[in-house]
Amino acid sequence: MIDLRAITRTVRLPDDRMLHILRGVDLTVATGEHVAVVGRSGTGKSTLLNLLGLLDAPTDGEYLLEGVPVSRLSNRARTLRRGADFGFVFQQFNLLPGRTVLENVVAPLMYAKGREFWRRRTLAAQMLDRVGLGDRLDAMPERLSGGEQQRIAIARALVRGPRVILADEPTGALDVQTGQVVMDLLDSVAAETGAALVTITHDLSVAARAQRVYRLADGVLVPLDLGTAGAEWVGDVPTAVGAAARPRELAPPVPREPAHREPAEPAAPAPDQQPAARHDGGERR
Ligand SMILES: Nc1ncnc2c1ncn2[C@@H]1O[C@H](COP(=O)(O)OP(=O)(O)O)[C@@H](O)[C@H]1O
Ligand SMILES: [Mg+2]
Repeated sequence: MIDLRAITRTVRLPDDRMLHILRGVDLTVATGEHVAVVGRSGTGKSTLLNLLGLLDAPTDGEYLLEGVPVSRLSNRARTLRRGADFGFVFQQFNLLPGRTVLENVVAPLMYAKGREFWRRRTLAAQMLDRVGLGDRLDAMPERLSGGEQQRIAIARALVRGPRVILADEPTGALDVQTGQVVMDLLDSVAAETGAALVTITHDLSVAARAQRVYRLADGVLVPLDLGTAGAEWVGDVPTAVGAAARPRELAPPVPREPAHREPAEPAAPAPDQQPAARHDGGERR
């Protein structure tokens, strides 16, 4: 399904220094597989996920998507594949403010064609029913709890039946128990639809759900055996994660939005560029 070979990602900082975020990442993800990536804040996990989801392009190396070199796709083909093949779930949910729960889940289907497009409201309502929100279709997401908002985001990620779900710290803004409920849901919907799942997380109990776990450190992926990872690794996991942990002096970064991205594509917002959906459901850390 996905085959990354010696992928690098280098960005030029405002002071002209080069920042080598990824230095040679090899990764294969098979259909239906669940792979987790852990690593400290700032090690390039989101950068890797953005590359996987065609939100960003590697500096060097090769990305084969079902055997097709992504670098050879036209901008339009890349955008179409992103919408049809990938579902994104982010730490801060990234729901559209001022739109109902149903409208949020319908949004990715606005880019679909034919039957999928014409049945969009039905498909979205069915997906919301699947995540247990069938009775909240007309609610405003910002009034719901964090766990409910993430379930909306999961419905939105899955409504087009993606082959790959990319989840960037999906439980990072939730309490432990709600995080487990959300991961149970993500795992089971992914399994039902046969989608591959790539989860980025700081939480080893979340990572432990995956069939394979990698640690991203010094720009490369290293297989991680959670059974023997031990206290050394656990002690290395920061407790506070997210945007606040990013060095402020690097923000705003060199535009990370690839030129080929179509504006306002709700299925695939670039993380960190969207205003974080705020709520007071009491589930944030
Ligand atoms: N486009 C960019 N320009 C400059 N620096 C960037 C850019 N994208 C990411 N970075 C920096 O690269 C490092 C890795 O970022 P990121 O992938 O978001 O890490 P993680 O998700 O593991 O916390 C961080 O130091 C971040 O500030
Ligand atoms: Mg990140």
